[in-house]
Amino acid sequence: MLLQPDQRRKLDETDDTLFYDVPRFVTHVDEHFIQQLTDLYRTRLKPNTRILDLMSSWVSHLPDEMEFAHVEGHGLNAEELARNPRLDHYFVQNLNKNQLLPLPDQSFDAVLNTVSVQYLQRPEAVFAEIYRVLKPGGIAIVSFSNRMFYQKAIQAWREGSEGDRVALVKQYFAAIPGFTPAEMISKASPISGVMQLFGIPGTDPFYALIAQRS
Ligand SMILES: C[S@@+](CC[C@H](N)C(=O)[O-])C[C@H]1O[C@@H](n2cnc3c(N)ncnc32)[C@H](O)[C@@H]1O
Repeated sequence: MLLQPDQRRKLDETDDTLFYDVPRFVTHVDEHFIQQLTDLYRTRLKPNTRILDLMSSWVSHLPDEMEFAHVEGHGLNAEELARNPRLDHYFVQNLNKNQLLPLPDQSFDAVLNTVSVQYLQRPEAVFAEIYRVLKPGGIAIVSFSNRMFYQKAIQAWREGSEGDRVALVKQYFAAIPGFTPAEMISKASPISGVMQLFGIPGTDPFYALIAQRS
């Protein structure tokens, strides 16, 4: 088993829908992180393709100048998703209750998941769905930093180091036959950690794992 039952636990075990009931029109990471992510999307996504932004909100971090054939959004707060200017359509679904996406097989060129993977209690089932909806050759980009809603992140994430979290997401991909081994992009600065020790705000570390449906 990928995760033991305890490793899937959250400190706040109430229904996630309650926690995300109130819209949060904030950015969950700093400008530096967002710039890295948008630059990554610029190089890895292709214009006029179909994108799924899983666990999205009112921002998708896609490059402004790129046009896509369709951007499908998903999240837990309809007000946030309705405000997202990049989404052509969206749906609300609690992935800790139901992992089956209401989307056809092989219908997306890219699936994106930004600063949210730590909240998944059944990640192997969600990654199987990401695989199912990707077209052959399509890519999944899962990005994260070190920030989180602590009480809503699973124990395996809360208690792991940043390196452990990278290894965990690699395992999520490796658990699904047919994904290529995940490529890791890291822009975490060791100086940032030292600066923070002296009370000087550093920048949010950036990690992205990218795998392809072969
Ligand atoms: C930190 S926010 C990130 C939002 C967005 N991806 C971004 O980059 O700003 C975490 C998102 O995960 C989604 N989420 C958390 N728990 C979820 C769950 N159980 N099912 C579906 N979505 C969930 C929420 O909708 C929330 O918007």
